[in-house]
Amino acid sequence: MSEAYTATIGGQQVLILKEGTSRSRGKEAQRSNIMAAKVIAETVKTSLGPMGMDKMLVAGFGDVTITNDGATILKEMDIQHPAAKMMAEVSKTTDSEVGDGTTSVVVLAGKFLEKAEGLLDQNIHSTIIVDGYKLATDKALEFLNEIAIPVKPENREMLRNVAMTTVSTKMISESKELMADIAIDAVLKVAQKTKEGYTVDVDDVKVEKKAGESMNETELIEGLILDKEVVHSGMPKRVQNARIALINSAIEIEKTEFTAKINIEKPEEMKAFLDEEERTLKGMVDKIAASGAKVLICQKGIDDLAQHYLAKRGVLAVRRVSESNMEKLAKATGGKISANLDDLTAQDLGYAKNVEERKIGDDKWVFIEGCKNPLAVSILIRGGTSKVVDEAERSIHDALCVIRDIVQRPYVVAGGGSVEMEVASRLKTWAEKLAGKEQLAAIGFAEALEVIPAALAENAGLDPVNVLVELRAQHGKGETWAGVYAEGGVRDSVKNMAKLGIYEPLVVKEQVIKSASEVASMILRIDDVIAAKSGGMGPPPRGPGGPEGFEAE
Ligand SMILES: Nc1ncnc2c1ncn2[C@@H]1O[C@H](COP(=O)(O)OP(=O)(O)OP(=O)(O)O)[C@@H](O)[C@H]1O
Ligand SMILES: [Mg+2]
Repeated sequence: MSEAYTATIGGQQVLILKEGTSRSRGKEAQRSNIMAAKVIAETVKTSLGPMGMDKMLVAGFGDVTITNDGATILKEMDIQHPAAKMMAEVSKTTDSEVGDGTTSVVVLAGKFLEKAEGLLDQNIHSTIIVDGYKLATDKALEFLNEIAIPVKPENREMLRNVAMTTVSTKMISESKELMADIAIDAVLKVAQKTKEGYTVDVDDVKVEKKAGESMNETELIEGLILDKEVVHSGMPKRVQNARIALINSAIEIEKTEFTAKINIEKPEEMKAFLDEEERTLKGMVDKIAASGAKVLICQKGIDDLAQHYLAKRGVLAVRRVSESNMEKLAKATGGKISANLDDLTAQDLGYAKNVEERKIGDDKWVFIEGCKNPLAVSILIRGGTSKVVDEAERSIHDALCVIRDIVQRPYVVAGGGSVEMEVASRLKTWAEKLAGKEQLAAIGFAEALEVIPAALAENAGLDPVNVLVELRAQHGKGETWAGVYAEGGVRDSVKNMAKLGIYEPLVVKEQVIKSASEVASMILRIDDVIAAKSGGMGPPPRGPGGPEGFEAE
């Protein structure tokens, strides 16, 4: 038995941890955690920026995802190492908080840890490094706010700049103008004015996707889309000024739960039985028609015969709509979902200007446009293949989020690594005045920020050292927004990013710096890793022995 899970007390061996538990302590634990986190950072680094590459991820069942989104890459990678998992988590948090910067946060955290490693080598204790990082983070946030540019949320030009910067790093960058405009229109439609400004819930924008056509056919729909067709060919395919009944019970003859037996002896009895069924269905349709509804959206099934009667009455009907879509429809059209047809009245009906079935690829979908509630908007994404529309959906999500970020907190900074360079340069000057070894940590922190412009340069095929030297010189001369001009080639690699219109929301940069520093500090504070034996699911994780499940490049 190893000393990891036993102790000797008074000459007696005492079992403390279960057999199979692995443990590593002190420097060994720290180093392997840092190593694992750095591997993760290196993996996503090549996908940073407009010239970043995409990753193809193949899941256990063979599902393929092609993406450049940091959070998605790390989600799809089957990460085992606990410290590496923390990196994936911080990326996910960044995604849910601000929607963009999920690659930057991981790259930055990796660099913070690399710098810390150098300091650990100089025998500086990790608590001092963590303290220095904390001081530097607070100061960095202060500098960020100092240089941020206030904008008006209604300033469409600026919103466009920000949205285009975000989508220009993605596969959909060829249609960046269209995508930016769609994202802006969608967010401005769902934005709600409050006393303090605006609030936006990006979930109010429904995103539907269908492979086919080209990305340029992506459109904004002022209303909702149901991926269902009109149930009967005899029904109208389009109803204008539609009054809509929302029903969550089946328009069918109820089946009894137990087996019943009916004895039919004469043909007339059989006919009477069938007539009765017909009458019941007809009665149901009559009740719907009596309410004045011209469109029926049903959460359950609609009997064939009932479909026929509905068609005769000129009602457009859709069946088996999901509960969540029913709720969205109720909110959008102002209608009430009824369970009992007897209670259905004209007041329960929703309203939309236009309900129409359209052919989307091989399918027919029903569009409900011009709803009573103007907050209902959808984006219909089109694109060559299912992989393209999936990635387009993720990128549009990023665009919607950055627009929301600015509408809610109207401050921007310029991108292309310029903001990181400026904050780094100010931090270095400030850190020189710090007393104690925290000074070294703070300088390390400042230098780590330069990893963003360095990675942007490297991914654009430029020499990161040359670019950094030039950037430092420019920032030294007071060029706040000097950044990496990825498309410029070797001669023209440093330019004023603000002049080029490459802007990003302040909140994204704040979140990236804050979260990266937090996760790095958390990993640095760990000096003991005790990993339980995994319960019969294959070999136990080797704990801090190194990242498992993937290989470093
Ligand atoms: N045209 C451009 N020239 C130079 N840099 C740019 C340009 N457009 C965007 N960038 C920079 O690219 C970086 C963002 O890259 P990317 O979108 O790949 O990663 P992310 O935003 O950190 O993560 P993700 O988008 O995966 O959540 C930002 O630093 C941004 O300023
Ligand atoms: Mg991005």
